Amino acid sequence: MSLKIEFTPYPLGHEIKDIDVRNLDDRDFDELQAIYDRYGVIVIRGQSLDPQEQIAFSKRFGPLERFVWEEYNMRDFPEIFVLSNIVEDGKPLGLDNGGRYWHSDMWITEQPPRGSMLCAIEVPHADDGKPLGSTWFASTADAYDTLPDELKNKIENLSAVFSSKAFSDFVGYNKPADDQDVHAANLAKAQAQTKDVLITHKMVRHHPRTGRKCLYVVEGAITHIVGLDPQESRALLDTLMNHVIRAGVVYHHNWQVGDIVMWDNYSAVHCAIGDFQWPQRRLMHRTTLSSSAARAQEATPSTSSGTM
Ligand code: SIN
Repeated sequence: MSLKIEFTPYPLGHEIKDIDVRNLDDRDFDELQAIYDRYGVIVIRGQSLDPQEQIAFSKRFGPLERFVWEEYNMRDFPEIFVLSNIVEDGKPLGLDNGGRYWHSDMWITEQPPRGSMLCAIEVPHADDGKPLGSTWFASTADAYDTLPDELKNKIENLSAVFSSKAFSDFVGYNKPADDQDVHAANLAKAQAQTKDVLITHKMVRHHPRTGRKCLYVVEGAITHIVGLDPQESRALLDTLMNHVIRAGVVYHHNWQVGDIVMWDNYSAVHCAIGDFQWPQRRLMHRTTLSSSAARAQEATPSTSSGTM
């Protein structure tokens, strides 16, 4: 192994040191990808990629896909989904308040993506210099591994129903909007595209690259577990979610401009923290790695977990 890793005390969020992602040779790239597969969330600081560079680096992991709400994709680089509270010339630069719940990305689609790469362009700070708008991460693979066997057996073949309406109610996107609020107007337009979508996903998914089992839970978006009565379903969902984000396992990423964080959408969930407000500015660029790159390996799962 040649890449230098600075480990957090958590299952994920480890930092890869001393690399420039613009100039990684194939050997280092393969190693980086194996670390990403193995741990689920990796951090690379000091990169400051422009959109072309971010897209080029992301594409080394496989094909990209666009975020479902097109109004938040960059006009000239639609592979880049913009998260921001900034308004320029009366137009929001990106999705304000995005990702403020424990989730993996694009659960609303049948084949959710392999993962995402988020680059920090502007980071809000408190008056004392403390960074705000952090992103928190937890491992759904570690969560599965640490469940009691009885619970593992119980959920092995269960599926859950995910609902766009339940999610919008939970995160407050359905609140009546103030006409003057340009963010709310954009959001209403975006939401019309995914209004009332219901989708069923298995609660335990097999990571197509590592073979690990991962819990599939999303806060606020799951209406029920198929075949269970409502109370049992609610109680089980709460137990599983609370287990994923239990004390001592959650990595808090405090952003610096130029950071890249990559998360694996099977083995990790994340939550953006909304502890800042305008005129504190936050601007992030996300690329989304298509699931097809991960599924291409399904027949021969990597054995990298356990060997590094
Ligand atoms: C996301 O959920 O993709 C956004 C996370 C963030 O803005 O920190």
